[in-house]
Amino acid sequence: MKLVADAIKGTQDALPKESYKWQYIEKVVKSVAQEFDFKEIRTPVFEKTELFQRGVGDTTDVVQKEMYTFEDKGKRSITLRPEGTAGAIRSILEHGLFNDALPIKAYYITSCYRYEKPQAGRLREFHQFGVECVGAKSPVADAEVIMLGKSVLERLGIKNISLEINSIGCPECRAKYTEALKEYFSKYKNDLCETCLSRLERNPMRILDCKSHICSKIAQDAPVILDYLCDECKEHFEKVKNYLTSANVEFTVNPKIVRGLDYYTKTVFEFITTEIGAQGAVCAGGRYDGLAEELGGPSLPSLGFAMGLERALLLMEKQGCPFPQDSVADIYIAPMGEMAQATAIKLCKTVREEGFSAVTDYSGRGLKAQMKYANKIGAKFSMVIGDNEIESGKATLKNMLSGEEIEVEIGNNFANSLYKVCKDSILSEIENTALF
Ligand code: HAM
Repeated sequence: MKLVADAIKGTQDALPKESYKWQYIEKVVKSVAQEFDFKEIRTPVFEKTELFQRGVGDTTDVVQKEMYTFEDKGKRSITLRPEGTAGAIRSILEHGLFNDALPIKAYYITSCYRYEKPQAGRLREFHQFGVECVGAKSPVADAEVIMLGKSVLERLGIKNISLEINSIGCPECRAKYTEALKEYFSKYKNDLCETCLSRLERNPMRILDCKSHICSKIAQDAPVILDYLCDECKEHFEKVKNYLTSANVEFTVNPKIVRGLDYYTKTVFEFITTEIGAQGAVCAGGRYDGLAEELGGPSLPSLGFAMGLERALLLMEKQGCPFPQDSVADIYIAPMGEMAQATAIKLCKTVREEGFSAVTDYSGRGLKAQMKYANKIGAKFSMVIGDNEIESGKATLKNMLSGEEIEVEIGNNFANSLYKVCKDSILSEIENTALF
């Protein structure tokens, strides 16, 4: 088969047979978000390019190398969102939500776009479940947001995942740290990649997450930010650690985590696995106290995280986490002939109105082929409708698993008959096996 166009590199389809896994993950993350009283926010897939240049930072890999940026027909520079935070904060500021009760607690399930080299767990279109807690200064919020991330991972059944945290300070401590980094990296001017050379003057902290082999090797012995924290940042970090400890959340402090986006301040964290290859960060985030101001809004200390849904799915499959079975058709109605087809559609409508799913034939297939199809889709019950059934006003409902057969009326009384005859056996069985 030669298709006119196949899928774009680094993108994935969620096929009908597999999509129940996505639906399950989405259901779980939404319910945990609701337990923490986060409400959904939906923002556009594209934004003005400046939003990400200013928000994510124009010395980051994401902005310098990975954005899908294009000019629209009105000659405006537009970018497909590489992450969810900047758009969420733009929306919160634009709609003045900060005038209501703070903090604003928002979550999203969203597609993101980064032009990265695709590999297992790294795509060009991927999906994030993210939460943003806006207008919350206290370290209690840090602990709560981290615990939300942990709850989601636990509720999905994911095991063996470690939490690493760090503090990358505020602009005050960052200034001293930047000087120390400049001094350190200046010794390696001849070895750094070209991008990092330009970062040396403007934002040397970005060299710490450069993906080039040589730069990351040089970065191994660079000074660490924890040695430069000011008193307030130190105290904030101590409190976050204390709250986590008192909530029995295990963590390790990794002073090397700096995160790849410029907006972070103070607490940063990552939930890491070693089980899905090099792309081990399943869920990551931190505090971004200056972002709202950077985007033109008031001061709104905030924090959040995003979980990569493809990575979570990969890990769940690897660990054999249970996914509840997808819903299957309750009743397959097999018509025999044209007249029966019209009756079958009518009966399907009634079944659906009663809250169950019904399937019938769309291809004029013979009975044998229809039953084969009913089996293949895992229908729980089948019912054949032919001339005899229409004439007698009665048909036989067959349990596809046990073979049990029950007679039902198919005239105007179908719904009642179905309900009465099957109340104890079939419908309760259907209800018990319903997915969610
Ligand atoms: P991030 O670390 O860039 O942070 O991405 C968060 C998560 O998205 C990663 O840990 C990973 O699971 C997933 N992810 C990132 N890039 C890819 C990719 N190319 N393919 C597959 N999955 C990927 C952020 O995006 C921040 N906005 C998180 C945040 C929210 N911080 C505060 N609030």
